[in-house]
Formats: sequence, structure tokens, C-alpha cells
Amino acid sequence: MYHTKTSSFPKDFLWGASTSAYQVEGASLLDGKGPSCQDVKQIPEGTSDLTVCVDHYHRYKEDIALMAEMGFKAYRFSISWSRILPEGTGKVNQKGIDFYHNLIDTCLSYGIEPIVTMFHFDMPAALDDRGSWSNRDSITWFSDYAKLLFETYGKKVKYWLTINEQNMLTLVGPVIGTLRMPENCKNILKETYQQNHHMLVAQAKAMALCHEMLPEAKIGPAPNISLVYAASCKPEDVLAAQNFNAVRNWLYLDMAVYGEYNHQVWAWLKEHDACPEVTDEDKQILKQGRADYIGFNYYNTATVESCGHIELKENQQVDQQSGLIEPGMYTHYRNPNLSKTQFGWEIDPIGFRATIREMYSRYRLPMLVTENGLGAYDTLEDGKVHDTYRIQYLKDHIEQMQLAISDGCEMLGYCPWSAIDLISTHEGIVKRYGFIYVDRDEFDLKTLNRYRKDSFFWYQKVIKTNGDDLTIE
Ligand code: BG6
Repeated sequence: MYHTKTSSFPKDFLWGASTSAYQVEGASLLDGKGPSCQDVKQIPEGTSDLTVCVDHYHRYKEDIALMAEMGFKAYRFSISWSRILPEGTGKVNQKGIDFYHNLIDTCLSYGIEPIVTMFHFDMPAALDDRGSWSNRDSITWFSDYAKLLFETYGKKVKYWLTINEQNMLTLVGPVIGTLRMPENCKNILKETYQQNHHMLVAQAKAMALCHEMLPEAKIGPAPNISLVYAASCKPEDVLAAQNFNAVRNWLYLDMAVYGEYNHQVWAWLKEHDACPEVTDEDKQILKQGRADYIGFNYYNTATVESCGHIELKENQQVDQQSGLIEPGMYTHYRNPNLSKTQFGWEIDPIGFRATIREMYSRYRLPMLVTENGLGAYDTLEDGKVHDTYRIQYLKDHIEQMQLAISDGCEMLGYCPWSAIDLISTHEGIVKRYGFIYVDRDEFDLKTLNRYRKDSFFWYQKVIKTNGDDLTIE
């Protein structure tokens, strides 16, 4: 659809950016924090560990002041479960509670809306030892944790997000350093989707609890949603794209919005004797948990073609955005129409618009972009970082989001990844995303000083003009 006139961004549009606790805070075992699965995982070779990150724990005031200087209306961050409950359940760590009070209060003092993710890839290690999401008790662990968050921060926080990228935890958990398989597990697919089921029920419980305890607040999921294209107009490829769309995207949103399993995914699991055990109580809980909005991370689209019952290669390279294959369902296809980042992720701004349109057609809920951004090698020279490539990426995506709004889609805000440089899920600090550069290398912590990148000033102008001026100087 071509628009002769595009709609403006809504007046109260939430311009901001995102981070997650384990990637930005550091202080990984300080002030009573218990270890999370990220602190005990095997760190990918050649990349930094997560003990200091960019030391947001000690420098959050300076960081939030810089966000305020950019004009942020919102800051999406996550709470580290094991910082406030070192064992995951039971005894509360007051210093952890205080830290997030201070962080939230600092945001509010600048008029920045805190958007809180309750769980971003960092299961308390103590709960990992008790089986993590494979243990049905995880539903209670998570809802008790959610209750504590609502009681503690409910007066100050209006926007809540449940589980970051639950779909990626399920599809590529080992890459992220999560998802535990019990020893001698015979049906890995079934076990994986049983864990996924526990997360879905836990999320629904948290949503229902939020509505009960904080009627004014809004809560939503935060999956990684990428529209899946068919590699060709061959009908078999179209079916493959539908398959991957269902497994990757709609399973999670059908559940968060309608409280129901996606029928295609259910049929596929059934075929593999992998349906999770669902109790009557689960069904009731799933129906009670309703999202008020959809938070979603978008990096690029995926393209697939049909495939038969092929053998999977060992050590197949996969991550959140690339490489996934499911024999009999779909296999990834390199889209020749798209360029790639320095780290091999495809770039597809038009796909962003298509993804937003598709989601709105299916769910009719307002949407909040909780991540979107370019991971690149940045260079600091004379205190400056000329990241025109990042500005271009963000500009192209913001333009497409505006077109999606002009198409009639309802958008609440845009929080790209990331507010400040942080440690990537599996590629270290060198894969930088921030508007703010942090002076450190992979293994040399250097000064940890902060520098405004060119994208900082550009985004400042974008926010100031509420998205009217996207020009690049
Ligand atoms: C998302 C995650 O998958 O993508 C973030 O929610 C992550 O935690 C981001 O950092 C970028 O991925 P990566 O692998 O480049 O760090």
C-alpha cells in the first residue's frame, strides 16, 4: 500500500531503548545477589564473562542521565530474579530490592517510564539445580516472584513484560545459555515443549495476578517475532513458511492473547509424541492470562523452503535469527534480496512493517517494540563513534514502523536494542548495539567511561521531533 500522506507518531509515543540485567549490570555476585544460569554457564570462547559487563549496577545514575539527555520517554530494563531472591524462592535480598527502587526512581525523576521485563534469560542458578523450567514447580516459583515484583514496584511501574523471547529459549536455548535437559531424557522435543508449557502457564498466572493486583497497569509478553517468508511461490514452500510461522511466532502470541495452543504446532507435536501434559487447572489458568499489549523484539525476517525428512548436521550453526531447520517442516533459506550485518544477520526493514501488519491483523492489540537494532564493531576515535551504519538501520526501521502506523496498526512505542553497549548473548562486547559507547574491550575493562555515539545525537533529534525528522546529517 502506498500512502500519499503518512500518519504521525502518536503524541505520547514511548521513545526509548532497552537493556537486560545480566548483559548490562555486572556486580554479578555483589550485595547478596545469587548466581543466575548466566553466571555459571560456560562462556563462549573468546568472549567476556558477565561479572562486570558495563557496570550499570554502579553507574545507572550516569546512564539514565544520558538517556534523559537523549530525551527518552521510556527505559526497558529487566530485573534480575536472583538479585532480589538469591535462591529464586524464599529469602528476599533487601539490597537487590533497593537497587531496583533506586533505578526506577531515577527514571521517574526524569519523566522516563520504566518498562520492566520480569525474566530475561537469567534463571537463578539455585532453581536451575532444581530442574529449572522442567520442574512443574517453576510455575509457582515464577508467579511468587511476579507477586513480589507487583507488591514491591507496582505503585511505580505501569508497563510489565513477562518473559523475554520465550520462543528463543525454546528454539535455541543452549545458544543463549539456558534450557536444561534432565539426564537420560528420551524425547527431547517433548521435554522442550513441556518446559515451554510451564513457561506459558507461569506467564498466564503472572498476567492474571497483575490484573488483579494492579488494575491500572499493563502487561504483555516479549517474544522475538519475525514474519517468515516462503523461499518461492511453490505451494510447498508456502506451507513451510506457515509451519515456521506457527512454531516460531504464533504459538506464543496465540497463547498470550487467546490462551490457546496453536493448532498447527499442536498437530506437529502430536505427530512426534511430544505434546506437553496439560492439566485442567493449566487450561483454566491459560484462559485467565490475557495480554494488554504485545511487546516484541524484531531483528529481521526469516525465509524458509520446504524440506523432507532430512538428517540434521551435527553442530549446525543456529542462533536467534538464523539457521533453523525442522525436518519435515521447514529449512532455512538465505534470502538473496537482503543484505547482512557484519555478524551475518539479515537486514529487512520492510519486513518490520510486514511483521507489524500481520501481528495486528491476527491480534488487534497495541504493540510495543521491545528490541530492534544493529550489532556492529564500533571504533572510538577522539571520543567519538561515527556509527552511520546504525543510524541508517534505525532510520530505515522507524520509517517502516511509521508506514505500518499509516496502515492502521496501533503502536505504543519503540525501544531499540540497546540503550548502551552491553555484552551480547554469545558474541561478547565487540558486537555493540548501544547509543552510548562504553570504553572496555573483551577482556580489558579499561576506563568503562561513557561516550555519546553519533547515533545518540541523531536519536535525540528523532525523539525531539517525535519522529518527524529522521534525516541523517
Ligand atoms: C535478543 C535478546 O535475542 O537479541 C538480547 O533478547 C540480545 O538479549 C539481542 O542481546 C541481540 O542478540 P545478540 O546475540 O547479538 O546479543
